[in-house]
Amino acid sequence: MRISVIGCGYLGAVHAVSMASLGHEVVGVDVDEAKIAALCERRAPFYEPGLPELLGSVDDDLLTWTTDLAQVAGARVHFVCVGTPQMHGEFRADLRYVEAALAGITEHLAPGDVVVGKSTVPVGTAERIAEDLSSTGATLVWNPEFLREGFAVQDTLHPDRIVYGLPTNDGVATPAGQAARVLLDEVYAAPLAEGIPLIVTDYATAQLVKVAANSFLATKISFINAMAELCEATGADVTALADAIGHDVRIGRRFLNAGLGFGGGCLPKDIRAFMARAGELGVFDALRFLQEVDAVNMRRRVRMVDLAREVCHGSIVGRRVAVLGAAFKPSSDDVRDSPALSVAAQMQLQGARVTVTDPQAVANARAAWPDLSFADTPEEAARDADVILLATEWPEYRDLDPHALGEIVAQRHILDGRNVLDPATWRAAGWTYRALGRP
Ligand code: UGA
Repeated sequence: MRISVIGCGYLGAVHAVSMASLGHEVVGVDVDEAKIAALCERRAPFYEPGLPELLGSVDDDLLTWTTDLAQVAGARVHFVCVGTPQMHGEFRADLRYVEAALAGITEHLAPGDVVVGKSTVPVGTAERIAEDLSSTGATLVWNPEFLREGFAVQDTLHPDRIVYGLPTNDGVATPAGQAARVLLDEVYAAPLAEGIPLIVTDYATAQLVKVAANSFLATKISFINAMAELCEATGADVTALADAIGHDVRIGRRFLNAGLGFGGGCLPKDIRAFMARAGELGVFDALRFLQEVDAVNMRRRVRMVDLAREVCHGSIVGRRVAVLGAAFKPSSDDVRDSPALSVAAQMQLQGARVTVTDPQAVANARAAWPDLSFADTPEEAARDADVILLATEWPEYRDLDPHALGEIVAQRHILDGRNVLDPATWRAAGWTYRALGRP
């Protein structure tokens, strides 16, 4: 199948390579020349485990990269994978990249082509796009993406489920929708053959599935972080609490890790855009709880700065703080809305001398927060530090030796922002150990 992928970020680049690895002939398009230049050289333009290997293994004839949108002509299926960031100063999603992508490909579409929306959009967007495409003879399918950064290749090739939102008439897929489904079944023949569940539905449901899933995940994280606040008020331990409630299969232990909370390019902006859309639809009350989910999440960052102040006996002014982690989560170099960087910047603004380190994200972090100091290794960051903050749970930080680190620092104060260290081990090595939601 000839496929085009418009937008080669964390989603699109992985999707393009993965589709080529399944034997499809793929052209990936992006406006960012540096990104396309890297991909043309078979280099991943960002850190994503497994992507370089997959890029290296795909047959040259099956994968091309370009900044020229006209190259989508001839493809039968066009995946729209551009970003939908939060609008500046508002909760709504900024759809300008989706609109530009569609405006750019429209003249190159042929009747019978299928345009597949993967970007996360406010419900109602697909209906509008389908209307705009009607004169081209192409059909729109909404096919939300659920990949996690750090596991993007695995999640693309072996997703938990595949969702198609088709054009419908009285609840039944139109003939064009059914034809589009046949094409998409061909694209996803390999994962479908694995028995991965396929949910075929309408546009509205498909768009909602994505934001509902991310809202649920965000709510689960903020739930356990709210429990962490209760634990702090009562001397209880949120990690033991999470283990105990997580044994109930109806609850489940995953996404119950309390700490600095959620960040990244998806969860924070998706719950806000969802609230904004609910307001436009006159059903804001249904999502009012997401305001609280957001508030709990942001409070954790403030609390972490307070905790640093506590261990420094009331003031962080002039204190050296080493922040281990800049990425919003391990196995990623993405620093968008990173809790780690947000706390680092806040401490710096409040007078601390902050040095941040990360195995992969220093370059992106430096570009986002040029006023912070950066180090290449945890040892370099920790030298003469008064406080160490573990902010992103990279394996190399979880495994740090408290004795060796203790030789480098000025004071043995460790803040475990992700609740991944063993308090007893660190205390036995002479450290003051503090964490969110733990005694
Ligand atoms: C998230 C969803 O998990 C994906 O299913 C979705 O496709 C994606 O957004 C998207 O919309 O594109 P991602 O942003 O890559 O994926 O990261 P997650 O693994 O969901 O983590 C999000 C944040 O929550 C991270 O900052 C992480 O540290 C935090 N988190 C996660 C916790 O604080 N506690 C947990 O228990 C789990």
